[in-house]
Amino acid sequence: MRLNCASTRLLCGLFSASAFALTFTGCANKAAETGPAAGGNSASAPIIVGEFASMTGAQATFGSSTDKGVQLAAAEINKAGGIDGHKIAIHLENDEGQPDAAATAVKKLITEDKAIAILGEVASKNSIAAAPFCNSNRVPMISPSSTNPKVTQTGPYIFRVCFIDPFQGTVAAKFVTGTLKAKTAAVLYDKTSDYSNGLQDFFQKAFVAQGGKIVLVRTYQAGDPDFRSSLTTIKAANPDILYVPGYYNEVGTIARQARQLGIKAPLVGGDGWESPILIEGAGGPGGALEGSYFTDHSALDEKDPVVKKFVESYKAANSGQSPDALTGQGYDAAGVLFAAIKAAGKPEGGDYNTDAFRAKVRDAIAATKGYAGATGDITLDADRNAKKSAVVLQIKGNNYKNVIATFQP
Ligand code: PHE
Repeated sequence: MRLNCASTRLLCGLFSASAFALTFTGCANKAAETGPAAGGNSASAPIIVGEFASMTGAQATFGSSTDKGVQLAAAEINKAGGIDGHKIAIHLENDEGQPDAAATAVKKLITEDKAIAILGEVASKNSIAAAPFCNSNRVPMISPSSTNPKVTQTGPYIFRVCFIDPFQGTVAAKFVTGTLKAKTAAVLYDKTSDYSNGLQDFFQKAFVAQGGKIVLVRTYQAGDPDFRSSLTTIKAANPDILYVPGYYNEVGTIARQARQLGIKAPLVGGDGWESPILIEGAGGPGGALEGSYFTDHSALDEKDPVVKKFVESYKAANSGQSPDALTGQGYDAAGVLFAAIKAAGKPEGGDYNTDAFRAKVRDAIAATKGYAGATGDITLDADRNAKKSAVVLQIKGNNYKNVIATFQP
C-alpha cells in the first residue's frame, strides 16, 4: 500500500496529534506545488524532502518512531523560518516494511514528488533495496539507523547517521565475554534479513576472537511462528548465552518459546529489538525477556543539553511521551540533511532540484563533522558512515532502557 495524503493524515492521526498537524501541513504544501514552482524555484516554494518508512507491517514501530523524529526536526526548522525562506515539506511514503515497496517508494518520491533528498529506511534490507535508485539519480539518501555495511556501499550519494554492524557485533561479543563471562554461545538468526545475517556473522567472528566458542547456529525466516525445533537443539547444546540478532516481533516469540522449553541462558540481541512493544510481545513485564540484553544506539542521556532540549520538545509535541532511540536517529538524520541544505547555499537560478544543487548537498553531508545530534556527535567518515558509541541495555520489568555499559567506537 502506498499512502496518499489522506491516508498519511489518518495514520499519523492515530499515532499522535502533532504528527497529524505536521503531515497535514506537508500535504497542504504539496497541493500548492503546481507548475514551475514544483522544483522549488519560486521564492517561497517548499523544499521537498522524501521519507520512506514502514508505517505498517511487521516492523511498524520502526517507521512510526522514526517519522516522529523527522517530523519534529522539520517542524522546528519551519518554525524558525525554513531555509532561505523555503519551508521543508516532508513527503512520506509507507513501504510496509517490504523491500520492493521501498524501491517503488523512492522512485515515486524522486520522479513524481521531485524530492531533492531522501530519508530512510530503518531495516537494512529496505535501505539496500532503495539506495541504488537514489544513487543513480544523484539524490542524496540518509538512513537514520540501517547498520548493515552494504547500505552505504551502494555509492557516493548514500549516507547513514548511525554506527555499522562490524562495530555492533564486536560490542556484543566484548560485553558477553567481558561482563557476562560467557565462554560458549548459540546463534539464532533470520536468514532473510541482511541485518540479521550480517550482525550474526560479525558477532561470531568477534566472539571467537575474544576466546569464545560458538556451539550452534540455527536460522529462521521472518514471519515464522514456531522456533521450537531450533530451540530444542539449542537447549541440548546448553550455551552460556543465546544471541538473537532479529527484529522485535520475532524476538518476543523466540523468547517465550525458549523459556517454555526451559532455556535459562540470557538472550542477547541488537538494535533490532528496539520497540515500545518489545516487552509486550515477550509476555509483558517480568516475562520471557526479563534480564535479557541488547546493544543499541544512544540511550538519550538527558545530562547532555542537546539531548535534553530534544527530549523536552519531543514530549511537548507528543503528549508527554518519551522518544526512543529510533526517534532520535530520525531527528538527527533530518537535522544533518537540513544543515547540509543550508550549507549548500542558495541554488543558482533558485531551483533546488537540480543535479548541481543536489551534488552540493551531497558534498555538504559528506563533510559533516561534529554535528551535535540528539543521539551524539555525528562525524561522517570516508565511507559515509557515522562513528558513534553503542550502549548495552538490559530489560527489567517494563523498562528496556537500563544502560549497563557504553562502548566507544
Ligand atoms: N539496524 C537495524 C537494521 O539495519 C534497524 C534498526 C535500528 C532497528 C535501530 C531498530 C533500532 O536493519
